Amino acid sequence: MEKKSGFSSRLGFVLAAAGSAVGLGNIWRFPYLAAKYGGGIFLLVYLILAVTFGFSLMITEIAIGRKTGKSTIISYKTINKKFSFLGYLASLVPIIIFPYYCVIGGWVVKFLGVYLSGQGHAATGEDYFPGFIGSTAEPLVCLAIFLFLTSVVVLMGVEKGIEKVSKIMMPVLVLMSLGTAVYSLTIDGATDGLIYYLKPNFSEFSIKTVVAAMGQLFYSMSLAMGIMVTYGSYMRKDDDLEKSVRNIEIFDTAIAFLSGMMIIPAVFAFSGGDQAALQKGPTLMFVTLPNVFDSMKGGHIFGFVFFLLVLFAALTSAISLMETIVSIIFDKFGISRRKICIGVMIFSFIIAVPSSLGFGVLSSVTIFGYSILDFFDFISNNIMMPIVALATAILIGFITKPDYVSEEVESSGKFKSKKLYGFIIKFVVPVCMIIILISSVTGYV
Ligand code: PHE
Repeated sequence: MEKKSGFSSRLGFVLAAAGSAVGLGNIWRFPYLAAKYGGGIFLLVYLILAVTFGFSLMITEIAIGRKTGKSTIISYKTINKKFSFLGYLASLVPIIIFPYYCVIGGWVVKFLGVYLSGQGHAATGEDYFPGFIGSTAEPLVCLAIFLFLTSVVVLMGVEKGIEKVSKIMMPVLVLMSLGTAVYSLTIDGATDGLIYYLKPNFSEFSIKTVVAAMGQLFYSMSLAMGIMVTYGSYMRKDDDLEKSVRNIEIFDTAIAFLSGMMIIPAVFAFSGGDQAALQKGPTLMFVTLPNVFDSMKGGHIFGFVFFLLVLFAALTSAISLMETIVSIIFDKFGISRRKICIGVMIFSFIIAVPSSLGFGVLSSVTIFGYSILDFFDFISNNIMMPIVALATAILIGFITKPDYVSEEVESSGKFKSKKLYGFIIKFVVPVCMIIILISSVTGYV
């Protein structure tokens, strides 16, 4: 059996974990939620939750991974036999998410191709995007390209593949985000959008703001799906855990914030201050933005850089999903990484096909009223992940006691927020998770 490799440095670990956290959720979902739920007030709620609730869950998962040194299934079983189900449930989440995440990754590949070949104007029509995802062959080819790129990196291993790629892509992503955000602010009429984004609008504050921020945070930090447990198991024993988690959080939040700075002012200027343009959900990225780019000076370059940045963000997230699946199979069956990677790639492609075709030939197939892709998204994000987080909080808060995590954190440095951590993992996380579950099931947010 091959020996498990790991990250070679703290920086490598932080960038890879930040690579997982920074994804489509930051660039597309965060700005539109911020616009929808009261601008600055949403930002404020999000920040408070990030440093408390998000921090506690993330440090828990990474500590579990590092302490047990194992992949998801085995790590939870090692902690407590009665919680074996939790390992299986957490492992199922990336297996469900990975295929459809690659479908969306494929859409990003397509749009990058559009700007690369100078066809940005063609993409402005209302029917362009629905026409593309509704077709059969092209989205599947794009999906295959995205899946292949992801697989190659994972095949190369943790240190030589994931760490290396993250060390290149993440700094480039920061530069591109900064550049596009600054450029966006120079557009005529952008200031109003900036004010709308940053000024707290208290009249729009409601419990929905909190629930939406909580759901977003949870997804954005790649929690409750075994990813951070897996990456934690590759972390060096003497790297400071608390500091690393803070770094990852700052990275993730900064990119989400910058995405709002690049998207909201640009869309505001384009639509003459019409906020509805921002709140269109998925079409924002693939329909509204191409129109915004088309109306801008140098818009095709902006469009190209934007979709390249999105591709990098999506790739590093997909890599973490695939690595989590690969590590589970590796720990369970001990087959070679190469064989596992090829197997996971083929299996995921097959599972992804119906999600892709769900917008075209299979559009008549719906599950509980959802398209196939949206159903997978709903069941994993809104149901399974909150259950995993709830069970993890119960396991650590009440069965092993928070010291299980604190000891691991203190083995490599100080744990400054230890007291706060114990309180949050015991009480705040469970309450938050129950609220998320109820609001998901009842369709409140
Ligand atoms: N954290 C990623 C984002 O913000 C989403 C993600 C979910 C990544 C699941 C990997 C796995 O987009």
